[in-house]
Amino acid sequence: MKRVLIKSSRFNYPVYIGRSIINRTPAILSGLNLSERVFVLTDKKVDRLYGEEIKNVLNSYAKENFIYSLSAGEKTKSLNTAEKIFNLLLKQKFGRDTLLLTIGGGTIGDIGGFVASTYMRGVQLVHIPTTILAAVDSSIGGKTGVNFLQRKNLIGTFYQPKAVIIDTSYFNTLDYNNRVSGFGEVIKYAYLSSDTFYNLLYSNFDALLKLNSPYFNKVIEECISIKAAVVSQDEFETSGIRKILNFGHTFAHAFESYSNYRIDHGRAVLAGIIRALFLSYRLNLINQTQLEYYLKLPTLIKSIKIMNEFNRKDSIGFNNKLLEIMYSDKKSMKGQLSFVLIAGIGKILIDVKADKRDIFYALNKCKEFLG
Ligand SMILES: NC(=O)c1ccc[n+]([C@@H]2O[C@H](COP(=O)([O-])OP(=O)(O)OC[C@H]3O[C@@H](n4cnc5c(N)ncnc54)[C@H](O)[C@@H]3O)[C@@H](O)[C@H]2O)c1
Repeated sequence: MKRVLIKSSRFNYPVYIGRSIINRTPAILSGLNLSERVFVLTDKKVDRLYGEEIKNVLNSYAKENFIYSLSAGEKTKSLNTAEKIFNLLLKQKFGRDTLLLTIGGGTIGDIGGFVASTYMRGVQLVHIPTTILAAVDSSIGGKTGVNFLQRKNLIGTFYQPKAVIIDTSYFNTLDYNNRVSGFGEVIKYAYLSSDTFYNLLYSNFDALLKLNSPYFNKVIEECISIKAAVVSQDEFETSGIRKILNFGHTFAHAFESYSNYRIDHGRAVLAGIIRALFLSYRLNLINQTQLEYYLKLPTLIKSIKIMNEFNRKDSIGFNNKLLEIMYSDKKSMKGQLSFVLIAGIGKILIDVKADKRDIFYALNKCKEFLG
């Protein structure tokens, strides 16, 4: 079992990564002196697959153990759901000594984290992420949130968990789309990391995606270590360093919004990364050779062409709509569009301004490239 430590202003917390480590949960929780009054938040599918096992594991730890399962997905990330959970917590007489344990993907982690941070001004939180995306991204770094008025994560908090426990054997039941979505974020880390990591991913990609590569856990650990290093330096996204994690995300958020959240987050990130690469090239941050090399990894996922379906008929209309969405995104409220772009692997630039012509260039070149 591997352990990565995340630093935060109030306390440091461990992330444990390993196969079949769920059985170690009681020892981890008691080692951290956490409450034995456990409210488990999960989703219906995860409950069906692992609920019984989790209940058995927690029985040896918890004095009280209540499981509540929601439907996974963006609709669940709402104030309405949060209110339902608050009501249930109260009804079941959970007080300030609650340990809220989330077991599921990013949607469960985000809403669970939001509830934990606000219920009685904050109760203990532990994440057990069961998707690749949640393991490498959403469970680390303390961002919680719900969607509001069609805006993603508009209402939320920064609230760190006491621990994150990643049992990588849970990923075996993820379907292909969900694995691709997780790899969207994994690929993003390749640009933040090193040529060595980029090449490791590139050379072993097929086996990694099928979850049968001997490097799988190493890859997950590397992604978490990168995120840990970044969020430990910029817990509340004040210094700007944390923005590097948003490589490809300005485009990605626009795609998600355009599709009315029918596209998985990670898949939108992949599509966004490809546009961000073309934009970086347009702004002379990378040369032709770099562009070609950097495009190799995300395009190993053939189904990434899906992002071209939207603008097949009406490119100008599509581009304009996307631009409009980007302008209304909360990150560009000051009226200027800025992007997180790349000048080389491990050289991510934040707040790079681009105008409409540059953005259209990136969108159109990408369309040509993906065919
Ligand atoms: N807080 C952050 O920093 C942060 C970062 C990135 C993304 N996010 C959020 O994460 C969310 C997306 O997360 P996600 O992709 O995990 O989505 P998700 O939670 O909706 O899970 C996707 C699907 O996988 C299923 N599932 C989960 N674990 C499974 C398992 N082990 N086996 C089989 N099926 C399983 C779920 O039931 C669901 O159908 C978005 O809401 C996004 O905004 C948050």
